[in-house]
Amino acid sequence: MKKDSTVVVRPASSIAGSLRLPGDKSISHRYAMLAAIAEGTSRLHNFSTGADCASTLGCLQALGANVQRRENTVEIHGQKLKLRPPAAPLDCGNSGSTMRMMSGILAGQNFTSELTGDESLSRRPMARVIAPLEMMGATIASRDGGRPPLRVTGGKLKAIAYNMPVASAQVKSCLLFAGLFAEGETSVVEPVLTRDHGELALHAFGAKVTQGRNESRIIGGQSLQAIEAEIPADISSAAFFLCAAALFPGSDLMIENLLVNPTRARLLDILILLGLGISVTQIDEVHGELRGTVKAVGRELGTVDITGADSAALIDEIPVLAAIAPYTAGGIEIRDARELRVKESDRIAAIAKNLRAMGAQLEEREDGLKIPGGQKLRGAELDSQGDHRIAMAFAVAALRAQGDTQIRGADAAVISYPGFFAALESILQR
Ligand code: S3P
Repeated sequence: MKKDSTVVVRPASSIAGSLRLPGDKSISHRYAMLAAIAEGTSRLHNFSTGADCASTLGCLQALGANVQRRENTVEIHGQKLKLRPPAAPLDCGNSGSTMRMMSGILAGQNFTSELTGDESLSRRPMARVIAPLEMMGATIASRDGGRPPLRVTGGKLKAIAYNMPVASAQVKSCLLFAGLFAEGETSVVEPVLTRDHGELALHAFGAKVTQGRNESRIIGGQSLQAIEAEIPADISSAAFFLCAAALFPGSDLMIENLLVNPTRARLLDILILLGLGISVTQIDEVHGELRGTVKAVGRELGTVDITGADSAALIDEIPVLAAIAPYTAGGIEIRDARELRVKESDRIAAIAKNLRAMGAQLEEREDGLKIPGGQKLRGAELDSQGDHRIAMAFAVAALRAQGDTQIRGADAAVISYPGFFAALESILQR
């Protein structure tokens, strides 16, 4: 991302209102990819508006899928498992999800293709997908032992039983997608449970996936059927507004159709433990994904620790939880979150740097942060590091600071949520 856009965030006194948010990014990627290799035309409503999911659609189009977008409805005519060799390298932009999950599908194709990305994506680790896909029979060339670009030569795959060394839903989905093309039953065991959208999406498109405790299995050779789906609102985008509401006792926020899949909704539990009042009503299920209307009422905030399996479950929400931590009474300690160092930016370093620029005391550790509570922050000049979640997290931290905050590179928000700053403005009370 370019780093030349600056947004000024002024302090607020409360949050009030209701929001309808674009569809979940993780689900949008997966539905689009599976639609491209399904039989028939899928219709995906409330598709993510973020640039990352647009990168996925661009890659799929370059691989021969017919993709039409009308506002937030995406129609994809599937190619029945067989994609077309692309004429040029496939541009994944800033999106690790696109590169990692697409590599699973490309591993099963009878051609060589190249996956490239922007500067940030080109630094991110890909060995985690290269090693198991090579065990299945693909050949993948990379730079510096596992950095993009990736040159994937696919072909006949064989099933493997794989124990994932890192907790990563992108890797799990990549291998289950590759498993569709493999002979035999592919099994993926994860060290802690991660989001299960890949499994639910495969099931929605008609494939049989067996799920045990931390293990998912798929038999190769199954065909997929197109679906029509309304994608629930993105809970990782909602996190910014819910944390903003948490900053002000008395605030009152409603978010409709919000994804509350239990593998993604740990944020709601953590906010309740911190002291936010939260209710979820009108719960229903769409293609196995739970959604509901979430109402949040601001109260005094206490303290919470985020460790172990929680750190994996909250990996995308930790930046904004850390950004509100100084304003809580008892602070927030985050451990076992080393993965944050290899996201779109080194998020542990970016959080520490920006919080310190706002005058906060904290301890930065290799695998997390210890952020004491009861602190007063001041507005400052901050940098998003070209990272969407850092830009949005610090827009939230700025709401209770003394004085204005300037966020350089705030346009990074377009990666997951182009409408973020307008939506935030619409619920602020000054
Ligand atoms: C995602 C998984 C997580 C998350 C990312 C989306 C997914 O990444 O941080 O934003 O959709 O599977 P990892 O798989 O690298 O943990």
